[in-house]
Amino acid sequence: MRTKIVAGNWKMNNDLNASITLISDIKKELSGKNSNVKIIVCPPFTSLESVSTVLKGTEISLAAQNMYFEDSGAFTGEISSSMLKSVGCEFVILGHSERRTIFQESNQVINKKIKTAVKNNLKPIFCIGETLEEREGGITFKVIEKQVTEGLEGLTEKDLEHLIAAYEPVWAIGTGRNATPEQAQEVHAFIRQLISKLYSSGFADNLVIQYGGSVKPENSKELMTQPDIDGALVGGACLKADSFVKIILSAQ
Ligand code: 13P
Repeated sequence: MRTKIVAGNWKMNNDLNASITLISDIKKELSGKNSNVKIIVCPPFTSLESVSTVLKGTEISLAAQNMYFEDSGAFTGEISSSMLKSVGCEFVILGHSERRTIFQESNQVINKKIKTAVKNNLKPIFCIGETLEEREGGITFKVIEKQVTEGLEGLTEKDLEHLIAAYEPVWAIGTGRNATPEQAQEVHAFIRQLISKLYSSGFADNLVIQYGGSVKPENSKELMTQPDIDGALVGGACLKADSFVKIILSAQ
């Protein structure tokens, strides 16, 4: 049985005060509620350390939204994996479609980042997904296959022991238009099959694959009860404690 994992990607929202308020509200909303769902929050860099302090003694894990693949040096404006570890991060989102499209990150760059994360014991949340044009052009599976094979090139099953994959169709992100549970399930099953071909069926069976793209309390349960959907990577709806916690509870 795979554990359901719900992560909240705060993106470029919440300054320090707003971050502390949100994480404190999430803790309050969760108190007294039993959940066997693994929870991850992904605040912006500037809030990681403070959110980490609020999270002490809870089961909630901390993730960063990005990192650079070099360990240190003259890379103005970048953040390294050891910096993230030093402020309490256990996970890091890599290959988010906003990084791919707005910041031109290629599969090769993402591959280097995954390698660095793994080397430094940060667990990657590896995002993949097709654009609307690609879906309408009938090449969704081709695009996903390329993102997965190039993104994970040179990495072994052992390297990827703690990998989380996240299928986020670009056309469903921030648009209010989620993939239907059937559309999402179809791609999740494809990803699992592909991972099974690239690695082993045992590894593929254990891989958590989250869905992301306009997940809300109103659609989360139906999405997460699909056989190959193991949780959610939530954007907009994670910025309010009550809706994020509703999504978490719907995953049980
Ligand atoms: P939305 O939930 O706002 O569509 O964002 C999804 C996402 O990109 C999470 O990483």
